[in-house]
Amino acid sequence: MSLRPRPGCTAALLLLAFAFLSGCAGDEGKTIRVACAGPMTGEQAKQGRDMEEGAALAVEEWNAKGGALGKKIELLVYDDAQDPKQANAVANKMFTQGVVIVDGHYNSSCTIPASEVYNQRKMVCLTPASTNPQVTDRRYPTIFRVCGRDDQQGKAGAEWVVKHMPTAKVAVLDDKTTYGQGLAREFQKSYETLSGRKVVFAGVIVKEDQDHTSVLTTLKGYEPDLVYFGGLYPQGGLIVKQMRQLGIKASFMSGDGTYDPEFIRIAGAENAEGSYLTFIPDQEKIPTAERVVEAYKKRFGEVGPYSLYSYEAVNIALQGVAKAGTTDGLKVAQAIHAMAFDTVFGPMKFDDKGDVLVSPYVMWQVQGGKLVQLPPDS
Ligand code: ALA
Repeated sequence: MSLRPRPGCTAALLLLAFAFLSGCAGDEGKTIRVACAGPMTGEQAKQGRDMEEGAALAVEEWNAKGGALGKKIELLVYDDAQDPKQANAVANKMFTQGVVIVDGHYNSSCTIPASEVYNQRKMVCLTPASTNPQVTDRRYPTIFRVCGRDDQQGKAGAEWVVKHMPTAKVAVLDDKTTYGQGLAREFQKSYETLSGRKVVFAGVIVKEDQDHTSVLTTLKGYEPDLVYFGGLYPQGGLIVKQMRQLGIKASFMSGDGTYDPEFIRIAGAENAEGSYLTFIPDQEKIPTAERVVEAYKKRFGEVGPYSLYSYEAVNIALQGVAKAGTTDGLKVAQAIHAMAFDTVFGPMKFDDKGDVLVSPYVMWQVQGGKLVQLPPDS
């Protein structure tokens, strides 16, 4: 099933005394339907759950205040199974089920095809996590991105390498996904421009494989000091583990898709130690996030990398609905473009493309089995 209620959410919404039933067609029109779409099953299910929890918290808060436009907000959860075709299918399903706002997707490879549907159907979509430039570079009027972009993130990684490892021999790997390949090329482009040096090796992995030792053996022959990986944590974890098994001592660096404690668990803490990951500054230390972090932890436990982005995607969309006085997608999108938002990340505003004006990337490192933010000048 691509549409499912979540037990925890259902209970909370019932507590708020209104019905939450999977695909309850009778409620259409009586509620404002918000979708959370992402990888709810499979190897990335942790990210889907984080997104769902962030969305659920936002919806609960809106309903506690009476909803929007005099209607309760109904959260529907869709599983794209990290598959572009499935993402397209659930996008069409959302339209037939009366969804007006989409918080999704996680993978750029899902957000990009699904947003063709959202654009055509004039549904408002805010991705909390898809960082590939193409998400917004098509300039679709109802598509927004709450997080940063890979041209910024790849450059941030390259700047760090040039500054801190100026003589390093650098190898690049990617998983051939829209996100992974795009991020690897952005990193490589910036690195080669900034350093005046070429990467010593650029290769790909087969994302579906568990064994990456063939490409890693080839890579080993180039004796890199650093391996930059464009891809996600299930594969990032395996790559680091297999690098160490093959005796490759090179440092490992990757981006937001690898930023999760699961990366360390999959790699093994000892293997992951010292790995570098670009992500935003520590969300739990942002003063404006304090209340929501506390509420989230109380309700769901640990805050995931994209939990709060998902929370704000829903908040921003609903503020747009309230401001526009309608759920008409184009009018809501126009309102969002015109507004300035107070978010847990601080003030937020969108440019003409639907990107946020500010999205900092900083370097994190695995130290003592944990993700630690490095000071900007370290
Ligand atoms: N940032 C990752 C992507 O865009 C999750 O796919």
